[in-house]
Amino acid sequence: MSIFRSHILLPVDADTVEAGVFAVKRCIEEEIAARQLESEIKILETGTVGISGKGVILVVYPERVYYTGVTPDQIPRFVEEQLVKGRICREMTHITADVAAGVKSLHGLGLTRAQNRIILDKSWKIDPENISEVLAQGGYSGLEKIVADRISPEAVIAEIKQSGLRGRGGAGFPTGLKWEFTRKAAGDEKYIICNADEGEPGTFKDRLILEGDPHKLVEALTIAGYAIGARRGFVYIRGEYKLSIERMRKAIEQARQYNLLGKNILESGFDFDIEIRMGAGAYVCGEETSLIESLEGKRGNPRVKPPYPVTHGLWQKPTAVNNVETLANVPGIIANGFAWFKKLGTEKCPGTKVFTILGHVEYPGLIEVDMGTPLREIVFSYGGGIKGGKRFKAALLGGAAGVFIPEALLDVRMDFESLKENKAVLGSGAVLVMDESASIVEMLFSILKFFAHESCGQCAPCRIGTRQLLEIIYRIRQGKGKVEDIDAMVRLAETMQATSLCPLGQSPVMPVKSAVDYFRSEFAALIPAQQA
Ligand SMILES: Cc1cc2nc3c(=O)[nH]c(=O)nc-3n(C[C@H](O)[C@H](O)[C@H](O)COP(=O)(O)O)c2cc1C
Ligand code: SF4
Repeated sequence: MSIFRSHILLPVDADTVEAGVFAVKRCIEEEIAARQLESEIKILETGTVGISGKGVILVVYPERVYYTGVTPDQIPRFVEEQLVKGRICREMTHITADVAAGVKSLHGLGLTRAQNRIILDKSWKIDPENISEVLAQGGYSGLEKIVADRISPEAVIAEIKQSGLRGRGGAGFPTGLKWEFTRKAAGDEKYIICNADEGEPGTFKDRLILEGDPHKLVEALTIAGYAIGARRGFVYIRGEYKLSIERMRKAIEQARQYNLLGKNILESGFDFDIEIRMGAGAYVCGEETSLIESLEGKRGNPRVKPPYPVTHGLWQKPTAVNNVETLANVPGIIANGFAWFKKLGTEKCPGTKVFTILGHVEYPGLIEVDMGTPLREIVFSYGGGIKGGKRFKAALLGGAAGVFIPEALLDVRMDFESLKENKAVLGSGAVLVMDESASIVEMLFSILKFFAHESCGQCAPCRIGTRQLLEIIYRIRQGKGKVEDIDAMVRLAETMQATSLCPLGQSPVMPVKSAVDYFRSEFAALIPAQQA
């Protein structure tokens, strides 16, 4: 076996692929080959480090030097300086990490505070396409523990219930309870579905979890299947997520080869397998009942609830639908016990939360921090503050179906309970930061355009209401609005909330009401004087 003197970690995610990571990799390979260093230097593709917009990233071990924005033309000099002479290539954007713990070394890449990574723990340290590396880093130990200790399905559910894990797909429903309902529902055939549709604008956490550690999802789905009594699991992935789909497919194949999926898993007598299904880009298909309709091969229209999927889901059989991030917590809880999980986050919302920070911040990207971390810290410490030294104006939390948060609420804690107390939502975990130059009216206009486009049209309040909202805000933007239009928008959105069939039509009230409550003057400023 060769002992390599240097390892180059090359995070491969959709961002770095677009930035040309494979062209950089090819150049490094050529340069290494030209110097006959193949037996000394190893290049490893890993999952994401969670940073957006910094181009191709290289991490050189053992020196732990991070290079960002790497381009192919820099490679000959990089190889000569860093790999041959062992000197930092100073003309390239880089940072040296002098801290021992891996996560802390992310500071230098812009994340000014240490994160608490339990979901993205392995993501950037392993080759997600190599199950041996996953196993070496403790992958599948939750599943192995269940088999080795003969833990019953009921005990697995009890562990998840005691952990206090709540769904990360938006609603925060207790996961253990959902599994218990599904297990107890009548019927032999049951299903577990991983919701990886991720259509909420500004959200890409599930993609990076899938790209960075797909085996975690395979393990989680298998545990969930065992707990609820399902033999088939599905991952419904957004069709545009090519790399996630490819990596999930490889992870499933490798798990089958290692008897971690398929018949008689680890000689336990339990049979379980996973199938991948691709979404076709409709936002509403992320809603669990539309997703189920789509999985059944029908048009993805939401169903009337109740009955809920836990009793009448896929093909009318009991089905648990869980978000990617929710499931990604499961292996750790089983392997380490519920008490370990409860030490993280807040009492009512234990665990961590993965946020996508974007907009006018210095360092957009993905962070994983304890539930309950104040928004101010997320924006100013993890996000690096407002770009160009400008002033913070607002943050839109949770995507289009989210809430505008003004500066006065910057200290709100980011967990289900604290946000609810402040009439806000955690939603998908997107934090879109706007500086003083941003227009709330324009942002709301984009959101309402999105809803009008994505309404499935099945029920009148949403089909007509989303159009009318768009017409009103369009009028206001054009300087043709009346002062009554501002409150008319709120009333209309409230009526939609009360009468729409599914949560899509019930959602515009959140951005509309918060925009008007906190930024009414911006709307009023666009009303012509004779109308005001
Ligand atoms: C319009 C709409 C879109 C949704 N999109 C997603 C999505 O992309 N991913 C997701 O996990 N949940 C989405 N949800 C929430 C799901 O309906 C469901 O609550 C969630 O998958 C349950 O998982 P959890 O209990 O693990 O949170 C969406 C809901 C609505 C109303
Ligand atoms: S609320 Fe909108 S998306 Fe939901 S069923 Fe009605 S029309 Fe379709």
